[in-house]
Amino acid sequence: MTAQLPRVFVSRQLPEIGLRRLHQSTDCKVWAGSLPPPRDELLASVKGCSGIVSLLSDMIDAEVLDAAGPGLKVVSNFAVGVNNIDLTEAARRGIAVGNTPDVLTDATADIAVALLLAAARHVQPAANSVRSGDWQTWEPTGWLGCDLLGKTLGIIGMGRIGSAVARRLAGGWNMQVLYTSRTEKRLENLPTAKRVSLEELLEKSDFVSLHTDLSAETRGLINRQRLALMKPTAVLVNTSRGGVIDQEALVEALTAGRPMAAGLDVTDPEPLSPDHPLVGLSNCIILPHIGSATIASRNAMAEICVDNLLAGLRGNPLRCPVG
Ligand code: DGY
Repeated sequence: MTAQLPRVFVSRQLPEIGLRRLHQSTDCKVWAGSLPPPRDELLASVKGCSGIVSLLSDMIDAEVLDAAGPGLKVVSNFAVGVNNIDLTEAARRGIAVGNTPDVLTDATADIAVALLLAAARHVQPAANSVRSGDWQTWEPTGWLGCDLLGKTLGIIGMGRIGSAVARRLAGGWNMQVLYTSRTEKRLENLPTAKRVSLEELLEKSDFVSLHTDLSAETRGLINRQRLALMKPTAVLVNTSRGGVIDQEALVEALTAGRPMAAGLDVTDPEPLSPDHPLVGLSNCIILPHIGSATIASRNAMAEICVDNLLAGLRGNPLRCPVG
């Protein structure tokens, strides 16, 4: 008699390298849709599972853990951010939670720099004017943006991705780096980076890049009052989670031209409706959450995600445990 494979629900098609291993080692049901499973489908699909592979768009809360039942051993998130998972509930029930850190650091830092450059130099509206035929001729004062060289960069949340962004911009554009973080950091290759208060960072920085987790403490962190501290010429970049910014306040601030521009890889919700005021602003470039979207990063995320899942199913320590 062959041993029964553990039942697992996988909430989306992962890169093939991960799916192959899941099919070999588990009895897995993979959600076939390209959109997240609707809530009732998620609740029905996890029933009786020992493991769940979730995405950042799946809310894994007490109701989902209850729906899975007492046999649930592990939730493996295909993301480094775990704000979609109720970690307290998981811990209370002894359910292991895993994430996929490190392997997406460089890809995400690259997108933060791309957004910073694009917002600083009006790349999207300028390119749109070519496509629409609005661009008529070279103009001495057309599309004037701001330089990066030697400017001040503020990093809010100096973790793996924040420091990778700082290294790129300090090394490539000789920027001075200010940062906020819960603790003082020993930063290799960034010897002159200075830890300051959030207020000082916002007042002094020409470019502000957000890299903090989304939690009760950081939701709406960049609010109306804090946006008002930024320089009128500043650029705000967010590659962390949309909820860190009060979006209504950002619409007002960008409409008033202070800060000058924003580049967002993340919004709340995702996607924003096309008629959301942020989407219509020419000084706001918005990407569809593609920070980690390189072949190498997504394959590596799939490997870690499956390693975490299989370890949790066997009752072993996860490769990348959360908490
Ligand atoms: C994450 O992993 O948390 C990113 O936001 C998506 O790759």
